[in-house]
Amino acid sequence: METINWNDIGFGYIKTDYNVRCYYRNGEWGKIEVSSSENVSIHMAATALHYGQEAFEGLKAFKGKDGKVRLFRWEENAKRLQSSAKGILMPEVPIDLFKKMVKKVIRKNQRFIPPYGKGASLYIRHVLFGTGPQVGVKPANEYLLIIFVTPVGPYFKDGFSPVSMLITREYDRAAPLGTGKFKVGGNYAASLASIKKAHDNGYANVLYLDAREKKYIDECGPANFFGIKNNTYITPRSDSILPSITNKSLITLAEHMGLKTERRKVELKELETFEEVGACGTAAVISPINKITDTENGKIYTYGNKPGKISTRLYEKLQAIQTGDEEDIFGWVEIVE
Ligand SMILES: Cc1ncc(COP(=O)(O)O)c(C=O)c1O
Repeated sequence: METINWNDIGFGYIKTDYNVRCYYRNGEWGKIEVSSSENVSIHMAATALHYGQEAFEGLKAFKGKDGKVRLFRWEENAKRLQSSAKGILMPEVPIDLFKKMVKKVIRKNQRFIPPYGKGASLYIRHVLFGTGPQVGVKPANEYLLIIFVTPVGPYFKDGFSPVSMLITREYDRAAPLGTGKFKVGGNYAASLASIKKAHDNGYANVLYLDAREKKYIDECGPANFFGIKNNTYITPRSDSILPSITNKSLITLAEHMGLKTERRKVELKELETFEEVGACGTAAVISPINKITDTENGKIYTYGNKPGKISTRLYEKLQAIQTGDEEDIFGWVEIVE
């Protein structure tokens, strides 16, 4: 049995012992299966392969000081998977099936849950996809849901530190009435070229503008955007961004800390007025942003080279709740026995 060096795990895939699977056939979900294979055999004409009929989810479980395993807001991910499934005509995964599968896959892979204090967690990844064959553009008759886990290290190896973002008008991630609000693979395929452009130019990711007018801020690669000014947490309202569970949690925490919060359209030019800006999502909780470059209109927006005070408080608070260091007064955490 291989051992994992918990001080040195990154944010990649590490093989674990088991994954769990459930097929949807003849209009109903089958039994939960446990598999030790990393592979899956599907029809070459599966709709997932040809027409991108696929949705996924990602959430984390954390081991606390008390040795208990805490799952963060799994029900929100379950509801979002239902919304994504509905959006591209796949069957919705019942909330109870989602819960049973998540708990099972965690229990089956106990030895891969990183110990407390390493900043690491167990990342839980769901993938739901059309396995049934179709040659015409139609939804499949059969689907498979797989949930696997992989231990992931802290997103910021050298501590919580700011990153830079690129604005480009050369690419859109999602169309105004498209699938941007669903967590479906096609959105991520559509984002690859723009992210490569950002990386090639030394940026951490892309800050997408709204596809219709290029006037408003949408989101930041695989994370939502927020800005802070005048004691107010502001985050874009848009139909083409993924409703982030981290963002939703930060809004609640910000309100709890006495900040005002606004979810509304955020104009690009408002970037000049923010005191702190950041990207938020499951992977990093918060990535503070120190620079946003808009090459096409020649503007560079700069923020501090150190994380801002409010971003830091929000980051620390959310992490403390996730690991059980602080009491969860919001009912966000469920202990997996
Ligand atoms: C496009 C996109 N936006 C935002 C997020 C952040 O969402 P969450 O906080 O639920 O991880 C993610 C990651 O899931 C994402 O892929």
